[in-house]
Amino acid sequence: MNDVCEVVTTTGGARAILDRRVGEVMHPVVGPAIEAARLYCEPARLAARLQRSEPLVLLDIGLGAGSNAIAAWRLSEARAAGPRLTLVSFERSLDALALALQPEHAASFDLDGAAGAAAHALLSAGIHETSRTTWRLVAGELPGSLADGPVADVVFWDPFSPRANPELWSVAAFTALRRRCRAGATVHTYSGATAVRSSLLLAGFFVGVGEPTGAHKAATCAAVDAADLERPLDRRWLARLGRSTAGFAADAPADAYQRVAHHPQFA
Ligand SMILES: C[S@@+](CC[C@H](N)C(=O)[O-])C[C@H]1O[C@@H](n2cnc3c(N)ncnc32)[C@H](O)[C@@H]1O
Repeated sequence: MNDVCEVVTTTGGARAILDRRVGEVMHPVVGPAIEAARLYCEPARLAARLQRSEPLVLLDIGLGAGSNAIAAWRLSEARAAGPRLTLVSFERSLDALALALQPEHAASFDLDGAAGAAAHALLSAGIHETSRTTWRLVAGELPGSLADGPVADVVFWDPFSPRANPELWSVAAFTALRRRCRAGATVHTYSGATAVRSSLLLAGFFVGVGEPTGAHKAATCAAVDAADLERPLDRRWLARLGRSTAGFAADAPADAYQRVAHHPQFA
């Protein structure tokens, strides 16, 4: 435990971190390792994309205890060869990572061995490099700090809930993110909320349904190119949006429904 974070056991029996400032557990129920794989690395097809010839830039939004980032880092480091992964983690508080790195917790958070050394370097120097992977920290307040990172190929979007982090589920935040995404980029988040999906559409992404996990009904994938979505939202979703009483973020424009309905995804 430190002043703001505490290690807890989820109902699924995994170790996870509770942030007492917001009262939320990072990776609740199934735990950090399974969520990092099922909600982020696998839907992003990260292992396959790391075998291509082009270098890859991954933005890790909300470093937290480093679980998503270290899962990506481990995939990159497990390769015998391949292009460089630049992993850029955005965070305003390093309390969760510092706690997860404590010797009594590190193995529970996959932060033992070389992965732990990389995370320690990130914590102390803000960067760690190997022949395959650069891992860099952008400290500061999102979404403004997005401007301090590189342009992305893959984004893991993992803030707290809209109750605790409304500024990171807004149309404005996703519009700032869209500006930092190149052609072919995909965005992965645990939330399947209608207002989150409509905000992504209003920001200019194509949007699809992601995989369900034990903790969340169905996650969301967004993409710069429609062809990168396996299960795009369809006109039945649009009809449900029309009936929803919580379909839009607070900063959505007054004509948000019309704008979404005219999105090329629903043409
Ligand atoms: C759900 S946790 C992330 C868990 C993390 N991805 C992991 O794998 O352990 C959300 C994180 O986002 C950070 N965060 C929330 N709002 C932020 C903001 N406005 N700017 C920067 N970081 C923020 C929190 O400090 C917290 O560590």
